[in-house]
Amino acid sequence: MEDRKRIEVAAAVIWQDGRLFATERGYGAYKDWWEFPGGKLEPGETPREALVRELREEMEADICIHRFLMTVEYDYPEFHLTMHCFLCSFVGGFSLLEHEDARWLAPSQFNSVRWLPADDVVLDRLRKEDKYALLLKRVKSLVQGEPDRLSVMANVSSLLHESFSFWWTGFYRVVESELLLGPFQGPVACMRIPRGKGVCGTAWERAETVVVPDVNQFSNHIACSPDSRSEIVVPMFEEGRVVAVLDIDSRQLAAFDSSDQFNLEQLVKLIP
Ligand code: SME
Repeated sequence: MEDRKRIEVAAAVIWQDGRLFATERGYGAYKDWWEFPGGKLEPGETPREALVRELREEMEADICIHRFLMTVEYDYPEFHLTMHCFLCSFVGGFSLLEHEDARWLAPSQFNSVRWLPADDVVLDRLRKEDKYALLLKRVKSLVQGEPDRLSVMANVSSLLHESFSFWWTGFYRVVESELLLGPFQGPVACMRIPRGKGVCGTAWERAETVVVPDVNQFSNHIACSPDSRSEIVVPMFEEGRVVAVLDIDSRQLAAFDSSDQFNLEQLVKLIP
């Protein structure tokens, strides 16, 4: 039976202007290793409450918590760690009361410090966030002055496909009572999808993003390509109605997480 000690913490992934705030531990078993600031949850506290308290205690800092990023489950030799990570920014300054040092790291500098193993897991997610930030900037400049939805969709599917090497990336538009294939990148796909059918028709019917970690476990899935293993479908709205969906397939299982969902939902809002 598992009787090892369990520790639950909240971590502030402070990410501003494409740089990450890293702190060097000044005490304890992992002294001199680098980590995200934060700390243990006290009884009855939510992770967000713990984070606000910890940042005040350990660096006299006020933070703005933007969104939940991920929970890391990690087995250290001495204990099991559950770490809830949130994307945050500072509101004002900070002073290091417990840490030895702090640095702002661009993604190319992430590996320049020795991260605690559990914190290291989060760096790949941040690299993905950074790619999306760049992609959103490119989409914003692409749509400037171009009101034609189909043309923008064509270039957006190309940009997405190039940036992430997805297996299939494209749009289906609501045309009368069906989804009709729109601009895409990738192998030949089915052209019409009824409402409520497949992952695409389900996202349309529910008017919400559908993330499918394993397409073989989604009974309603329409297999356009046998190579697709996981999928995300994000609806696009106009005056509260779904007018199209963005559909992305990956050849890897569970390729899509909350970072993909959040950023792709932002992306479709930019399309005219
Ligand atoms: N798999 C989708 C159909 C579209 S293809 O993935 C391009 C679905 O189940 O709706």
